[in-house]
Amino acid sequence: MRVMVIGSGGREHALAWKISQSRLVSDVICVPGNGGMEEDYECLSADINDFSSLAEIARSRRIDLVVVGPEAPLVEGITDTFRKKGIDVFGPDKKAARMEGSKSFAKQLMIENNIPTGKARMFESYDEARAYIESLEPPVVLKADGLAAGKGVTVAVTKDEALEALEKCMVEKVFGSSGERVLIEEFLEGEEVSILTLSDGKTALHMVPSQDHKRAYDGDEGPNTGGMGAYSPVPSVSEEIEKDIQLRIMEAAIKAMERRGTPYTGVLYGGLILTADGPKVLEFNVRFGDPEAQAVLPRLESDLLQALVMAVEGKLNEHRMRWSPLFCVCVVIASGGYPGKYEIGFPIKGLKAASEDSNVLIFHAGTKKEDGKIFTAGGRVLNIVGLGSDFEEARGVAYEALSMIDFEGMHYRKDIGYRALQALEG
Ligand code: GLY
Repeated sequence: MRVMVIGSGGREHALAWKISQSRLVSDVICVPGNGGMEEDYECLSADINDFSSLAEIARSRRIDLVVVGPEAPLVEGITDTFRKKGIDVFGPDKKAARMEGSKSFAKQLMIENNIPTGKARMFESYDEARAYIESLEPPVVLKADGLAAGKGVTVAVTKDEALEALEKCMVEKVFGSSGERVLIEEFLEGEEVSILTLSDGKTALHMVPSQDHKRAYDGDEGPNTGGMGAYSPVPSVSEEIEKDIQLRIMEAAIKAMERRGTPYTGVLYGGLILTADGPKVLEFNVRFGDPEAQAVLPRLESDLLQALVMAVEGKLNEHRMRWSPLFCVCVVIASGGYPGKYEIGFPIKGLKAASEDSNVLIFHAGTKKEDGKIFTAGGRVLNIVGLGSDFEEARGVAYEALSMIDFEGMHYRKDIGYRALQALEG
């Protein structure tokens, strides 16, 4: 099979890497890819939001399956366009992608189907939203309804912060039409966990849990980022909790989408929080998590491409995934200043030495290759992944490899997996 992977982040590098191990694959082509993907796969530069041009490329390159990494093209209907042209895509269509494209749609679906989530109210009027915030005791969570490049959620500790976020969203319109509607939600306390569930519209096939680290600095301080590191398995998710999440949340959501006539085909990402009242949904996303994919896919022993094909063919009930018992820790190296302003174009040293250990994987994100050398080209730059027979070994492998890498201003968290250590120490 000839597979096209769309995207340019660490998630897409991990997807291309895992797909390329399939017994079904002959070629992996990445659009646009990054510096690291270019070393291993053919990469084509194209605008991933120009679906007609992408479909032309897919047709001319005789692509059998397109795997879409990021959410924006899915929410904009890339799957619908490609299917109309007879090209198979792994990823939800536009109607199903509303699970991420509209937070109010997802919330409504959860409420109607008793899927545990925080209480929320939806507003289209600034004045009404403002009055509601005035009546609440903070902390409170404010969410722009539509896609906002990961910046649409504010956890406001004071009323002023909530009002400021509301003003940015609905008056200054910093997220454009994505902020015309807002959700104001109760703040939930607990440990966050991510679950990725494959679906063919009917069957839900769950991947192993992982935990992301969204804040920029150690100790979960600083601004929210796309994710500064992840690990799997998650010791605080017992078998019982995992089953509960699978049944009452992920399967319930897939079934609900099927019942309403908008079946969900693709990977559904549950961003969950383990509260004192049990697991609850913070958000659903319609693609693999980044960096969760980089911590989960290295543990997958069975054929990922086969699972994606079975999902597209509606045969996921015939597929089983096999998982390695190994621990996997992924540490993200970012450009100095990320998620705020940062500079790019710095040469990256030490990549070869860092990847010599067979328990290390390096997935590139914001990198580019020029004259045979790799340079920084984005906010999140590299994902350094360590595998080990226990958590401490995996973490040690990742940080040892990371210590060999150097570029100007590089920043990373030194405490990835600290909650796992706490849970294991007991
Ligand atoms: N790691 C968070 C996300 O993928 O949305």
